Order: sequence, then C-alpha cells, then structure tokens
Amino acid sequence: MSSPGCACRRAAFVVVGAAMLVAVPVSTANVADVRSRNDVHAQTRANLAESARSAAFAHAMYRVYATQAAQEGLPHVRDVLNQAARTELHERFTGQAKLIGLVGDNVANLRDAMTRNSYLASLYRRFAAEAEHDGETNAVRVFTDQARNVAARHDTLTQALEAIVHPALGTATPAAVPVPPERTRTGGPAASAARTLGNLVAALMQEAFADAKYTLYAERARQTGEPRLAMLFGSMAGAERTEHFAAEARLAGLVHDTRANTCEAIGGELYNGRRMYPGYARQAARVGDHTVAALFTSIARDEMEQAQALTSAVSRLRTRCPASG
Ligand SMILES: [Fe+2]
Ligand SMILES: [Fe+2]
Repeated sequence: MSSPGCACRRAAFVVVGAAMLVAVPVSTANVADVRSRNDVHAQTRANLAESARSAAFAHAMYRVYATQAAQEGLPHVRDVLNQAARTELHERFTGQAKLIGLVGDNVANLRDAMTRNSYLASLYRRFAAEAEHDGETNAVRVFTDQARNVAARHDTLTQALEAIVHPALGTATPAAVPVPPERTRTGGPAASAARTLGNLVAALMQEAFADAKYTLYAERARQTGEPRLAMLFGSMAGAERTEHFAAEARLAGLVHDTRANTCEAIGGELYNGRRMYPGYARQAARVGDHTVAALFTSIARDEMEQAQALTSAVSRLRTRCPASG
C-alpha cells in the first residue's frame, strides 16, 4: 500500500476520489518531519520523504486491516497483514528515515515531538472549525478530540525534555500514556464534504507518520539507556495508531471486510512495485544518487513479493481481486 502521494494516493481515491489528490498536498505534513540532508539531490530527498510517508501509512492501515481480519476469525490473513505491516515499518520506513535523517538524539526527538504537537494543535482546531462550517458533526467531534489529545501531550513532553536535559534537577520522565486496545469497524465514510474529507486524509497521514516516527524515537531512547523515555515514545506511537488513526480511518470509511481490505492492500503494493519505486529509482539514477536508486529498485522488488504474499492469503478466501496496478 502507498500514502497521500501514493499510499494516501489510494486512501484519497477511497475517500474522496481522484480530484482530492490535488487537495491533499505533501505540505500538509509537518515540515519538521523531514530534516534536511544535503548529501542527496533535493528530488531524491523528496522522493525518500514521500516513500517514508507511504510506508508509515501502509503500516498503520495494515494493522487496522489485521485487526479486522482477527475480528472476522481469519487468523491466517491477520498474520500475513501483520507481517506486511512489520515490513513497512521496520524495513521500508526505518531505511528511508535513516537516509533523510529523521531520527536525532533524544533531546532533538523530544523537541521535534513538541514542535509537531504545536503544529497539530492549530491544524486540528482549524479542521474542527471547517468541519463545523461544513455541517460535519462526526468530524467536528473527532477533530476536536484530536486537538484535545495533542494539547494533553504538551505537559508530558515538557516534563520528559526537562528530565533528559537537566537530570540533576530530579524530574522524572513521565510514565507511558494509555494505549487503547485495537478495535475497528467497517462501514462507509461518516462525512461527505470534500474539504472535511481532504482534511481527514491529511490527518490520517499525520497520525500514521507520528506512529512510525515515535516508534523509531523509542528505539533510539532504548539504545541510549533511557528505558522510561522509550516506553513513553512507544506508548505515544501506539496511541497515535490505535486511538487517533483508527478513529479517523473509521470516519473516512476506510475499513471494509477482509476480502476488500486485502485487495486494496494488493493494489497498493502493485502500484508501488510497478510504478512508484521504479519511477523514483529512475529519477535518483538520473541525478547520480546511485545508492538510493539501488535501494528504490530493491524495494520495488520487495513490494511485488509483498503483493504476492497478500494474493496467496486472499486466494484462501476464494476471492479474486479486481485487476489493478
Ligand atoms: Fe508496501
Ligand atoms: Fe495523534
């Protein structure tokens, strides 16, 4: 599966149709999400950032699909989807994040999370106000909840930063935040205004990216001897996915039965394997970024293998997906 540019390209198709692609620019992502690195061409860096967003979205969406498969009593499909989700996070996203310098030291990561929080607080307030204007009461509730959640994180992150920067003051790193259990529900979109649906796609991308990024921040904290900070970041990642992303996916009507979900995932993998990554590889080779070009080529191959694994899973459901890619 891909994201706004590609995975979210597919989500945007599901939610609002092709026209909305124009309305969901990459710039809706926090610019602080992608730190600048000057050792690759600007276009290569932009493609790496886009592919990281794509992998983050696919990871979060596959976890939702896996939960749905479990709810339907289909453990073999659940396992394939969970494996695909792990691949998106621990191979795709992690590799791309490394190349764009996404993860810093613990202090930089906490500061980045705080910057993101401030940005999201105003973004969600605007989305809620626009949904109110559009008469989208369900969306007003979800966006208002998200704005409140973001605000609630501010003090937690401030305390965590103080604990890391000034350990002599004795401030304790806050405990992990609650992570609601994974639950999902099928159904069509519970909103219809084009602007609200576009905002919803942007919000989904934000939540998926935060889930993936905080997971890497947690790994960095663990590797550097900060287990409480690792637990805090890990729990924040979980909450972004099981609470925020899941609520927005339900509102957007992105969850269907397992047959449809798996076919959607296969379509995304085929698109990535046949078009997106080969295109990025050609662009990288053209500007002399041969290492990244080789990475994109190898990911394209892996995406096709992932499509094959998902196709095998879906064939056990006696389902054939519509041709795509
Ligand atoms: Fe993928
Ligand atoms: Fe969130």
